[in-house]
Amino acid sequence: MNVGVLGTGHYLPTRVVTNKDMEKIVDTNDEWIRTRTGIEERRLAEDNVDSSDMAYHAAKGAIEESGIAAEDIDMILVATVTPDTPFPSVACMIQDKLGAKNAAAMDISAACSGFMYGMITAKQFIETKAYKHILVVGVDKLSKITNWEDRGTCVLLGDGAGAAVIGEVSEGKGILSFELGANGAGGKELYQNEDNHLVMNGREVYKFAVRQMPESTVNVIEEIGLNKEDVDYLIPHQANIRIMDAARERLGISEDKMAKTIKKYGNNSSASIPMALSEAVKDGKIKDNDLVVMVGFGGGLTWGAVALRW
Ligand code: ACO
Repeated sequence: MNVGVLGTGHYLPTRVVTNKDMEKIVDTNDEWIRTRTGIEERRLAEDNVDSSDMAYHAAKGAIEESGIAAEDIDMILVATVTPDTPFPSVACMIQDKLGAKNAAAMDISAACSGFMYGMITAKQFIETKAYKHILVVGVDKLSKITNWEDRGTCVLLGDGAGAAVIGEVSEGKGILSFELGANGAGGKELYQNEDNHLVMNGREVYKFAVRQMPESTVNVIEEIGLNKEDVDYLIPHQANIRIMDAARERLGISEDKMAKTIKKYGNNSSASIPMALSEAVKDGKIKDNDLVVMVGFGGGLTWGAVALRW
């Protein structure tokens, strides 16, 4: 059986915060942020908008695009490191809001690789024919765990949500290969501290990302007997344009074939990849039969890559 994406959706808060705005919060400047990270602005959710609200809107879009009813969803998996509450899960909250009364629901914690972990978990349930339709959401309201006094991290982060409905697709299409990985020893490089703030050793995470992203991408392409040249669209985790470009250049992929939402949205953790996927679909950047590779890395440390035929 072939398992792939039936529909996508995303949600972005309307509040735009530019680099100039960040200059009023910490000792930074537009030039440093743009040249070191590629970020020009980010979206931050209002106080009364939590992860479940953003997840709900993204999910609704994905369900509509896939042409199924909320009652047809058998399972909801929400990748997030910023749930409204540890329990009930965001997945249970949106199950109720969506009226997806036949769906099992749980959250997944794998930081920026969470959407990849969710997609591949969904694939197993569908292949075994246990379930037909699984809603996978990546959402993070990073602004609520951001240390607004730490210029090394606060300029990087933004809020948002992306979603996809996973189900059976026609022969030759869908997920062709994947790689998931973790290195718990690296957990100390990127974590949430006792003040509930995100703490990051930027240089160590940078080194890890520059090595892992190209490696995982090559692994999933080679596993299906294809070459780097066969990739039509690359969706890397949107953490830093320099990391993304280093991976892209190592793979010999041209600029127009890589999603680059970081400029407008910053780093949205679990939401970055599904948001970029949904936007690329809406913008017509992903066409029928394209080979799409999604690759993420993040806290844990974790990583994940998926090659799929659209
Ligand atoms: N504005 C101005 N100066 C700054 C800022 C800022 N916002 N932040 C740091 N600096 C300064 C530092 O203090 C340092 O000054 P010093 O040399 O006087 O000590 C100088 O800039 C260089 O700092 P570095 O940390 O070496 O800067 P670097 O080029 O490594 O960039 C960055 C930092 C952007 C964080 C980079 O390391 C990075 O992108 N790392 C990976 C981040 C990542 O991928 N995270 C993903 C996981 S997080 C998640 O997804 C939720």
